[in-house]
Amino acid sequence: MDEQGLIRPGGAGWRVQRGEGFTVHLDTPGDAHLAFAAAVARGLEVRPRRLEPRFIYDEAGSELYEAITEQPEYYPTRTEGAILAACAGELAERIGPTTLVELGSGSSTKTRHLIDAWRARGALTYVPIDVSATAIAAAAVDLRGRYPGLRIEGVASTFQRGLPLVGRIHPKTLLFLGSTLGNLEPDEIAAFFRQISEVLAEGDAFVLGIDLVKDPAVLEAAYADAAGVTERFILNVFARMNRELGAGLDVDAFCVDSFYDVERQRVEMWARARRRQRLRVAPLGRGYTLAVGERILVEISRKFTIEHIEQEASRFELWVDDVFSDPDGYFAVLLLRGGPRRAGWSPTAGSGAPSPSRPEVPPVGAWRDVPAGIAWLGEPATPRQVAGVRLGATPVTCAEYRGFVDDGGYDRDELWSEEGLRFIQEHQIVAPLGWERRGGRWWVHGVPLDHLRPVTGITFHEAAAFAGWACARLPTEAEWEKAASWDPEHGRRRSWPWGELPPDPRRVNAGGGLAGPVAVGSYPHSVSFYGLHQALGDVWEWVQGEEGPVLRGGSWQTALPELTSMLRRSASGVHRAPTVGLRLAHDLEEAP
Ligand code: AVI
Repeated sequence: MDEQGLIRPGGAGWRVQRGEGFTVHLDTPGDAHLAFAAAVARGLEVRPRRLEPRFIYDEAGSELYEAITEQPEYYPTRTEGAILAACAGELAERIGPTTLVELGSGSSTKTRHLIDAWRARGALTYVPIDVSATAIAAAAVDLRGRYPGLRIEGVASTFQRGLPLVGRIHPKTLLFLGSTLGNLEPDEIAAFFRQISEVLAEGDAFVLGIDLVKDPAVLEAAYADAAGVTERFILNVFARMNRELGAGLDVDAFCVDSFYDVERQRVEMWARARRRQRLRVAPLGRGYTLAVGERILVEISRKFTIEHIEQEASRFELWVDDVFSDPDGYFAVLLLRGGPRRAGWSPTAGSGAPSPSRPEVPPVGAWRDVPAGIAWLGEPATPRQVAGVRLGATPVTCAEYRGFVDDGGYDRDELWSEEGLRFIQEHQIVAPLGWERRGGRWWVHGVPLDHLRPVTGITFHEAAAFAGWACARLPTEAEWEKAASWDPEHGRRRSWPWGELPPDPRRVNAGGGLAGPVAVGSYPHSVSFYGLHQALGDVWEWVQGEEGPVLRGGSWQTALPELTSMLRRSASGVHRAPTVGLRLAHDLEEAP
């Protein structure tokens, strides 16, 4: 490590804190408080209501989590500890000299098995990354006492912000232990693997601890310990909201329902209001009423199979080199490597077509605002006043649509129009065209469902039902066209969302070369003035036309010369094709 250290965060918002023999880089985003308030408000405005589990972890929450790991019912920590104790020597031997970079390091207790193994072979640098600077400092003091001379340079931040800082360290071994991966949503897991893939150079390694699918009784006991520590941990998010957002909640008037959803392979931890409660998000001046019995999803804890991880990881050119497990098969520690396992492997290999650029951070779930105003629309173009609208930055992905399917969307009559309901019942439709559930997973036309691809194979009615479930709606044709083509700066319509350069395979997925839609975010340089990704190509998008359903934007099959911002087709509401998807809209005043 040179004088300046291994890590040099660029830009504002970082501070350095020096301790006895260690350094911590502190991420101090100026708007953390508001970001917390906004995330809470967002979660309370969707149905079912939900909060992001990461908010449980303030100082009190981190302490409660440490207490959970000592409960007799909570097997993951001690099981993983035993696996690490047994495999650390072999890992150190196979990986060789390295810097250990741990994501979500917490107390760093289990990491000591690995530190022991590497220290036995030479000097070591340890880079803990954790949201809690206090936890890093406490762990650093403890480790320095145990391992004199151990170099420690921590990053107090989320792993999303911390990971890019360690990219230039080489050789390195990333550690993500404790099955924290299971607390992420599917699209967050994909984004996580992408980020890992981005920073993992050849010769680097990634050690991942995952909790495996098992007997539901074992799981349910682990997440409802007799001493009630898990309950206090889950409810800490409300205590924190009281402290930081002036929520004014009576925390004791909540209880926690935890259960294992076998289909979704995850434990869900819901807080339930035992009496009516009023909740404020003071920094935003917003208030909410929770009815008696109303539930808020506070945390999920996903359980995995090795195959599932292989699948997810391989999408981003990560592959499983070895697996270490316990005799009961409760938990596994995986050694993953970066880069293609087989020469020539790529997500689009075999199509013989040019690949789009590798997705940057895909704007899944992001929104784009299109303010009210006049735009020239239609054929021939006429000036039209269009109300303000908020549109999805990308088409809806398979992961988002799967949430609807898994939530019983096709069985919830209230989400469907009369014609839509008649159609799905008559044709026994329970998922998009080509979707099939096998072995607890969804497959699409015989290949594993790819979370980041736009959903396809849905009728207008399915699109509308999904939109209702997501507390949104479909865009009108005028809204879509304005968002995709209008350039307010020059007061003119663009021939293509990005401007006047005709489409080519680097800008847009059309012409059939890629044999299907590609991950959202794949064409970051082809966005419209208002920031719409993939408005042209990939999937036709259902919009509400003045006379009925309309399709806009063309698809991966549309011939390039045909593809312009004006391209449209009227279609029957029951048209269902592997080229058709959707994008969501909200009225701007009501948008979340
Ligand atoms: C941190 N994470 C892996 C824990 C888990 O098992 O999902 C969090 C936890 N929640 C309740 N108990 C433990």
